[in-house]
Amino acid sequence: MSAETLVQLIYLVSTALFILSLRWMSDPQTARKGVFSGVAAMALAVVGTLTGVIATGGTHYWWILGAFALGAAVGYPLAQVPLTAVPQRTALSHAFGGLAAGLVGTAKFFLYYGQRNEAALAPFIVVALVAEILLGFLTFTGSILAAGKLQEVKWIPQRPVTYPMQNASNLALFGLALALGVALVLHPLAPWAPWAFVGIILLSLAFGVLLIIPIGGADMPTVISILNAYAGLSAVAMGFVLNNKLLITAGALDGSSGLILSVIMCKAMNRSFFNVLFGAFGQTTTASAEGEQKAYKSDTVESAAQVMEQANLVVIVPGYGMAVAQAQHKVREVYDLLRKKGVTVKFAIHPVAGRMPGHMNVLLAEAEIPYEDLMEMSEINGDMPQADVVLVIGANDVVNPAARSDKNSPIYGMPIIDADKAKTVYAIKRSKAPGFAGIDNELYFLDKTFMLFGDAKTVVGDLARKLAGDSGH
Ligand code: TAP
Repeated sequence: MSAETLVQLIYLVSTALFILSLRWMSDPQTARKGVFSGVAAMALAVVGTLTGVIATGGTHYWWILGAFALGAAVGYPLAQVPLTAVPQRTALSHAFGGLAAGLVGTAKFFLYYGQRNEAALAPFIVVALVAEILLGFLTFTGSILAAGKLQEVKWIPQRPVTYPMQNASNLALFGLALALGVALVLHPLAPWAPWAFVGIILLSLAFGVLLIIPIGGADMPTVISILNAYAGLSAVAMGFVLNNKLLITAGALDGSSGLILSVIMCKAMNRSFFNVLFGAFGQTTTASAEGEQKAYKSDTVESAAQVMEQANLVVIVPGYGMAVAQAQHKVREVYDLLRKKGVTVKFAIHPVAGRMPGHMNVLLAEAEIPYEDLMEMSEINGDMPQADVVLVIGANDVVNPAARSDKNSPIYGMPIIDADKAKTVYAIKRSKAPGFAGIDNELYFLDKTFMLFGDAKTVVGDLARKLAGDSGH
């Protein structure tokens, strides 16, 4: 077998593993296997490339090994961040991916330009090069900014920044970059071509920033997913430039999965996908958190425990606060105790509860709560009127009825879990502070709602003790 055939074979296995990885990751039962197969696919991709370099007499493999070591040295600590910081960590990964694609494209252009290599700068390749650097560099700055916003870095405005003619000026900038790209495709060896190339890089870097500044709040995860798609597409373009089939397929998988996830999230938050694509969303509807002071009714854990053990159906709605408090293991105890008493317990999972897609599923899976009791919003909402108790644990926006009725609310139109339709509602949170969207929640003021103020882990732990029959003395 020739070395080239061997490399292509390794790439083929790697591609298959990437595809299987996505397939497996779409189900919590096989997700772990999916992660390992993704890692194996990536490792094989590096092995394949290294094999190709060595077989063709290349001596640059130390660069590959060096980059491998450097990547691992940066990647390992990055992977240690808490689960709540995964969205910004993911944004940083996209930034690296975009930067890599942009730099490879730049290196290739200047190499071929220096060689006056007309064949290597054929129109198709230059189109791919322009797409690669455009998407790569805009992903780089856009993702850095998105990560900074999510990390709440002080000097980055968290709220959307808007100004007149924003879309028009953004489009004009993008149009200018495209025009330079067309000029470059037509005259890749012109004396001004390097300047045009650098111009496209600068415009892309600026465009990445301008695309993200009008976005904020709950729209950030969707935009991260879109940036994922852009990074994937820049890898596809890089695959065409380098004539590397694995890059093309892996980039296409990355790009399309990012796009699909964005569409799913847009639906879950009732956002227009078209607006997301062009960065013109996250409009600044003013939040009404400081309205008139309404009264909350708080209750004791004892009486909550008594009501719950009398129930037929208890629905638990977890949210960001459960993640912050790391209360999932205590929640598991409550789940077990209630079931022992013959109560049916279901979990209602909102697609954007927490701070990243699948956030609640990951936490509840960690606590080994059976998957069949995790219900998607659309499945559980029909059963809500039959629920004797809804226990909201650190969730806020995803159970806010204003999303259904208040046209002025920033979350108006977002599908919610109908916690307000249950017979009794218990809500655990630490204070009267609003959730992510910064707005009051009518659910907490309903006659049937009782607040259990405190840290979710402490309150749920107390609840478990009461349910276990401990009088607490
Ligand atoms: P939020 O609306 O953010 O509300 C979380 C609630 O948890 C807060 O009201 C907070 O109240 C409470 N909390 C915080 N720490 C707590 C603790 N240690 N113990 C008990 N309670 C605690 O959460 P949600 O309902 O899950 O909604 C998610 C929001 O984030 C949505 O607006 C969504 O659009 C947005 N978002 C989602 C994602 C994805 S993809 N999941 C990503 C980014 C943003 P106190 O401060 O009073 O305790």
